[in-house]
Amino acid sequence: MLLIRDTVLGGLLLALSLPSTVVGHSWVEQLTVIAPNGTFVGAPGYPRGNIQRSASGFSDTEMTYLIPPNGRANQSQILPTDKMCKDSQRTAKQTEGSPRLQASAGAAIALRFQENGHVTLPNTQPGKPKNRGTVYVYGTTEPKEDENLLDVHRVWNRDGTGGDRRGVLLSKQNFDDGRCYQINNGDISEHRQAKFPHVADQTMGADLWCQQDIALPSNAPSGKPYTLYWVWDWPTAPGATAELLNGKQEIYTTCMDVDIVDNGDATSTTTHSHVKAGAADYVEGQPLDKASIPSQFAEIVDSRPAASESGKSVLCAATPATALSKPASKTTFLTIYKTIYPSATPTPR
Ligand SMILES: *[C@@H]1O[C@H](CO)[C@@H](O)[C@H](O)[C@H]1NC(C)=O
Ligand SMILES: *[C@@H]1O[C@H](CO)[C@@H](O)[C@H](O)[C@H]1NC(C)=O
Repeated sequence: MLLIRDTVLGGLLLALSLPSTVVGHSWVEQLTVIAPNGTFVGAPGYPRGNIQRSASGFSDTEMTYLIPPNGRANQSQILPTDKMCKDSQRTAKQTEGSPRLQASAGAAIALRFQENGHVTLPNTQPGKPKNRGTVYVYGTTEPKEDENLLDVHRVWNRDGTGGDRRGVLLSKQNFDDGRCYQINNGDISEHRQAKFPHVADQTMGADLWCQQDIALPSNAPSGKPYTLYWVWDWPTAPGATAELLNGKQEIYTTCMDVDIVDNGDATSTTTHSHVKAGAADYVEGQPLDKASIPSQFAEIVDSRPAASESGKSVLCAATPATALSKPASKTTFLTIYKTIYPSATPTPR
């Protein structure tokens, strides 16, 4: 269980004992459909070639994909031939036990990833952006096995008129969703543990994963996979360290597909299209381990075009989510806190 610790010395201890353990990087661990009330529903889906963390001998390198790769002499250089996807993720192949997400066209879905200290221990790597990097989701019905990063990233746009026009930018937001944390004794983690408590579960443990909530295009054809490229852009600024006077590029990607299923079955809540729901349907104060981020969810809903417009307009979401997500209201927090820790005496800061 989560312990709420009062650590006046937290920051000091952290500064003195910062472990060099922030080596794990991030990838999309799971995809989940979001119901109209903002709750995750149905069975999760997984990226291409997924390897579960519980697999014997698991190492992060089996799921992380870095561009430019380690060892490139010029760490600022991204080559036109650098591939979008890790070699194990270049085709739409799933591994045993890690199926694709099933969702209908237009559905709201959450992509979840672990922050691995990149959010809660921000001083570990100097020169990194305050928003902990920017995460992008691109979508296409026509993926290529040899997709090049530079043909897609910062090229495909919301209108679908960028580059070779095979795909669209579906979402752009901060890596830090404003809530997520790994359990550690840093100030940020301790503050968030108190503010956004949740019941530890088998999937996340006591940590709270980060999420990027997106809407699938309402015109994605049913009966086939729709491809998503998740790109975490995490550069180091020039001059941050003596070794990196010129800074460097650091990009991680995850490639995945979603089976677009017909939503003719109106009784199915697990795959049903939600973007039709209003933000008002979001249930405040719901358990955080299955809750989408309210501000992200509202943005998906707001970006939905008028019903009379063509399907393509859902791709033209109004504004990129560049602002930090708003934390839950105090009322929400107190409600949840009381539910989960009836006997605790919180001292939120
Ligand atoms: C490294 O690559 C960047 C980006 O392509 C370029 O601007 C820079 O001049 C290169 N540095 C060296 C030393 O070649
Ligand atoms: C939201 O709706 C789903 C699907 O109908 C349901 O399973 C879930 O319990 C609801 N969540 C809340 C917080 O009411």
